[in-house]
Amino acid sequence: MAEKLWDGRFSNKTHASVEAFTSSIDFDKRLYAHDIEGSIAHCRMLAKTGVIQSDEADALVKGLRQIKKEIETGDFLFSDSLEDIHMHIEARLVGIVGDAARKLHTARSRNDQVALDIRMYLRDECRTMIHDLNRLRNVIVAMADDNIDVVMPGYTHLQRAQPVLFAHHLMAYYEMFTRDTERFEQVFERIDVMPLGSAALAGTTYPVDRHYTAELLDFSKISENSMDAVSDRDFMIEFLSNASICMMHLSRISEELIIWSSSEFAFIDLPDAFATGSSIMPQKKNPDIPELVRGKTGRVYGNLVTMLTMMKSLPLAYNRDMQEDKLSLFDTIDTLSACIDVYIHMLPNIRIDRQQMINATTVGYLNATDMADYLVTKGMPFREAHACVGKAVAHGLIVKKELHEMSLEELREFSQLIEEDLFEKLDTLAMINRRNSYGATSSNQVRAAIAAAQKKLDKIFSDKALPE
Ligand code: ARG
Repeated sequence: MAEKLWDGRFSNKTHASVEAFTSSIDFDKRLYAHDIEGSIAHCRMLAKTGVIQSDEADALVKGLRQIKKEIETGDFLFSDSLEDIHMHIEARLVGIVGDAARKLHTARSRNDQVALDIRMYLRDECRTMIHDLNRLRNVIVAMADDNIDVVMPGYTHLQRAQPVLFAHHLMAYYEMFTRDTERFEQVFERIDVMPLGSAALAGTTYPVDRHYTAELLDFSKISENSMDAVSDRDFMIEFLSNASICMMHLSRISEELIIWSSSEFAFIDLPDAFATGSSIMPQKKNPDIPELVRGKTGRVYGNLVTMLTMMKSLPLAYNRDMQEDKLSLFDTIDTLSACIDVYIHMLPNIRIDRQQMINATTVGYLNATDMADYLVTKGMPFREAHACVGKAVAHGLIVKKELHEMSLEELREFSQLIEEDLFEKLDTLAMINRRNSYGATSSNQVRAAIAAAQKKLDKIFSDKALPE
């Protein structure tokens, strides 16, 4: 069993079951690169402030870099008895540079160390998430642009309501993912606070230069209160909350793809590469990918609730409960990135059945509002027009005709204001293009929205090539 770095006051060995129970190395090894980078900055700061000699710092930094290589090449030995990634790296450093390694932890505690590691790690993950969401937004805008002339029924209560451009429907998701991107940008600012120097909870007696450490690690702020710094996980909860909202959006689009690919709708055909068959029913092509994204949403919500519950009764400052935070965080990051990734690849390969979509706009009285608006332009008050068209619809349901399928004479039974020019108003594309208020579904508005989105994205991607 490896010697423990904290067992000076203990006379008995840790029980075998306790080692495995308390160990977090299986999951927190993911923080190794950030832990090492943080330790290197800490060393440099200790040397700058004269707490350790600069040649000692050099030796420690060299050892830390070697450990990074060992971990990356798979030559590093992990064991439960060393609990976590911080202990592993420190113990190995003793092996490489000898007793001088024991100075690395001067003016530091694992409490501020782990807070630093997660913040560094999460800054990187935030950047990746923002980049992935930008790629997803790009895919959505391209899809909207490619299908600018496709019309479909817009729904409320999942009942056909009014015709819209399919591109308009897609661009609604662009808006959602844009807000998600902004939320990750906003939480970045709260993550970007350097906690080191808070030590266990009360700060340190050594003359540390916290601003220097922050500068070395490219943090824009340092934490203000040492007790808060070691016990704050708000930034993680915010991240998990942002991820949950983003998953909710992915789940909503998944639900639409599932419905649209059903025989009842048949608006789209999912790419074979993103669907699966049934082991018993040969005809089946199942939308498992959107279903899984929808299902995984529950898991991401669960991680947020786990974290809120874990934190809710913790007295200040650090408590070991908080070690569990990483499980929720890592699982959410992995799940959300996998879902975004699968969408980036699946969306451009969906086949759209334009005819089926346009046909759906001509059945179900989607032009009833437009007929009422027509009567209003002829001088009828809207409420009266609403009732008049309602009667025409009731008649249509009996004689099994849509409004535009009725003859002029038939329609004039409901109002003498109706003339031949009504029919052009009831055409799907005319109805769409008349809805030309800012942000509405007319071709003009949607083209403008697509162009504005594309311009924004081009700017974001202008200095970096878009990875596939
Ligand atoms: N593995 C611990 C965690 O993730 C590190 C901090 C441990 N601190 C302590 N005082 N036991 O939270």
